[in-house]
Amino acid sequence: MSESLLHVDDLHTYLGDSYVIQGVSLAVPSGKVVALLGRNGAGKTTTLRSIMRMVHPRRGRVTFDGRDISALATFEIARSRISFVQETRAIFPSLSVEENIAVAARPAENGNGWTMQRIFDDFPNLAARRRNGGSQLSGGEQQMLAIARALVANPRLMLLDEPSEGLAPLIVRQIADIIGNLKRAGMTMLLVEQNFVLATEVADHIVVLGKGRVRWTGTSEELRKSDEIRHTWLGV
Ligand SMILES: Nc1ncnc2c1ncn2[C@@H]1O[C@H](COP(=O)(O)OP(=O)(O)O)[C@@H](O)[C@H]1O
Ligand SMILES: [Mg+2]
Repeated sequence: MSESLLHVDDLHTYLGDSYVIQGVSLAVPSGKVVALLGRNGAGKTTTLRSIMRMVHPRRGRVTFDGRDISALATFEIARSRISFVQETRAIFPSLSVEENIAVAARPAENGNGWTMQRIFDDFPNLAARRRNGGSQLSGGEQQMLAIARALVANPRLMLLDEPSEGLAPLIVRQIADIIGNLKRAGMTMLLVEQNFVLATEVADHIVVLGKGRVRWTGTSEELRKSDEIRHTWLGV
């Protein structure tokens, strides 16, 4: 546990009067991918937003690389090198692909990280669209741009909220390959997904959330064999 990069400890979050996150704890070890799964409304997005303090948990602690970040502002958490790829993708529609990437860029500490050039080398679809406006992109291109924006900030941890959502199967495959490549390059990720195949393919560890609580944890292999957990908490 103590070697994990991210620790979420007994998080409780209300949205208005709704008690949405009811004591969630999880850990993401350095270099690993943890998938956070659960039905619609289970509290996955709210968990990520609580970690980023875009909503303010009433109780609980979040530590990143041994440092308590529970009281920091969202921009300070991002600056501590956590990138959040939001469900909305949060692209600037009036900026070009290049400008969207430029505004998010932050050099790596060791001078050997993601740059705009490296993004365009690794994401040829984006390179071809570099001067296009954010609003002119397809859903898949927007998702790739959202991931690219997260990467040029040179994060030590990425939070991804349903990167495959609403995309055609061929594009989902491309996104899955991108996530797989990032994992092989050593990126630590907390991945929220509804796509069971994508999540279990890439995740080292799975956390199943249901009605604001952790209902099950284990490996992808164990989850594939746990029919009851899948039926009850995932509906697959
Ligand atoms: N602004 C809000 N006020 C009250 N309840 C909300 C609000 N936003 C979301 N919820 C509720 O919180 C629960 C968790 O939502 P969310 O974290 O978005 O779930 P998930 O990402 O797993 O689909 C849902 O039941 C949802 O209806
Ligand atoms: Mg969600």
